[in-house]
Amino acid sequence: MTIEDKLQSVRTDAPAPDHVPRDLVVDLSWTMGFNPNNLVDPYEPCGWLSAPNAPPILYNAVAHGHRHGAGLWVVTHYKDIERVYTDNDYFSNKGTAEFQALIGETFRSIPVAVDPPEHSKYRVFLMPHFGPAAIKKMEDGIRALVIEMIEEFADKGEVDVAWDFGRVFPVRVFMRLMGFPAPMFEQFLDWEWDILHASEPEKRMDALRGVLAFLRSFIAEKEAEPDDALVSKIVHGKIEGGRALTEEEKIGIVWFLWLGGLDTVAATISQMFRRMVLQPEIQAQLRENPTLINSAVEEFLRTQPILGSVRSAKRDFEWHGVQIKAGDSVQCLNCAGNFDPEQFADPRTFDMTRANNRHFTFTAGVHLCLGATLARRELRVLLEEWFKRVPEFRLKPGADATVFPGLLSIRNLPLVWDRE
Ligand code: HEM
Repeated sequence: MTIEDKLQSVRTDAPAPDHVPRDLVVDLSWTMGFNPNNLVDPYEPCGWLSAPNAPPILYNAVAHGHRHGAGLWVVTHYKDIERVYTDNDYFSNKGTAEFQALIGETFRSIPVAVDPPEHSKYRVFLMPHFGPAAIKKMEDGIRALVIEMIEEFADKGEVDVAWDFGRVFPVRVFMRLMGFPAPMFEQFLDWEWDILHASEPEKRMDALRGVLAFLRSFIAEKEAEPDDALVSKIVHGKIEGGRALTEEEKIGIVWFLWLGGLDTVAATISQMFRRMVLQPEIQAQLRENPTLINSAVEEFLRTQPILGSVRSAKRDFEWHGVQIKAGDSVQCLNCAGNFDPEQFADPRTFDMTRANNRHFTFTAGVHLCLGATLARRELRVLLEEWFKRVPEFRLKPGADATVFPGLLSIRNLPLVWDRE
């Protein structure tokens, strides 16, 4: 199939604003995790969108989960995505991840929905807790937890690595970092699932009310009784040369950390193990040469871009021959840009020795994921300790490896290995 055939197969009659050329109106609702598949490389169906002769900009008229289904521009090539993430004069992040608006809350999600230059004061405030030095201090604790968890099942010869491990490990690290009470674990995951994935608005709203009431009372508790964990440090912290945070800032920061820190690493872990069972030579290579773990983590991240961020245009302008209007949304399809052949040689090959692996899984520009150092460290420590304790593993016979290539990912992934 040529690119034009592929394009023709996704064109749609769905309505689009008048300033959008009709031949660019497409249905890309199948990208970013809404269509499950069973491919070794589950993001492969998006690949053609970053081919050199694919159109640089399209209009997705069928965008699930975006402003009640309203359409949005989509860019798919590396250079265009990079521009959207870094050109703060033209693109804004206002309104991003503000699910709380659904229940009439008006506080902002901080720092993600704050544009520069204001954004930097929050980043400066939070960075000491997420930079390499802070994460280094957490490493021993992360390692001890990973070892304890792996040793619970290593002798059994099997584990559901998505449900019993991937879902649990990063959330336990995150809850300790924040100082959240361990018994909230299941409730947190239920709330988050409903906010991000429930189709019924009532369910999403109940979850939002539940989590915000909890976070507000937790903030009040830490105000009265400080401890050494992060929520306490945030609520007692000083910003802009010495002032205390406002109530809106406190909830905005704690809320967004809660949202960003819970299931992103979990989805990454389950897809990483899925790839290793479907492509066992990756396991063999890492077992033989653990010094490749660092660069393998980067390649897992590149080949598993679980999110694609949306920005809104700050002004009217022309781009790639189309008229973008102020307020239009522009989505960056990382699942195409991370495989752009102009940027990555042999992009569909999993190459753990790849150099200059500058992918967009954590985006780029000022909003580059604040938790990236923590996430990378968790993944690295996990692989280091896993290969010391678990021999060659495979999918449990009869298990279903169907995956949603995105944040929904895969809920269950039972693995088995021969007991030694
Ligand atoms: C593999 C795991 C992770 C992935 C793939 C991921 C992905 C992302 C992406 C794509 C963004 C940019 C959103 C945008 O620009 O619209 C982002 C921002 C952010 N992430 Fe992560 N994230 C991960 C883990 C974490 C963790 C563990 C935390 C917290 C403990 C975290 C906290 C944040 C925060 C606070 C921001 C906002 C940064 C800013 O606006 O300055 N993330 N993340």
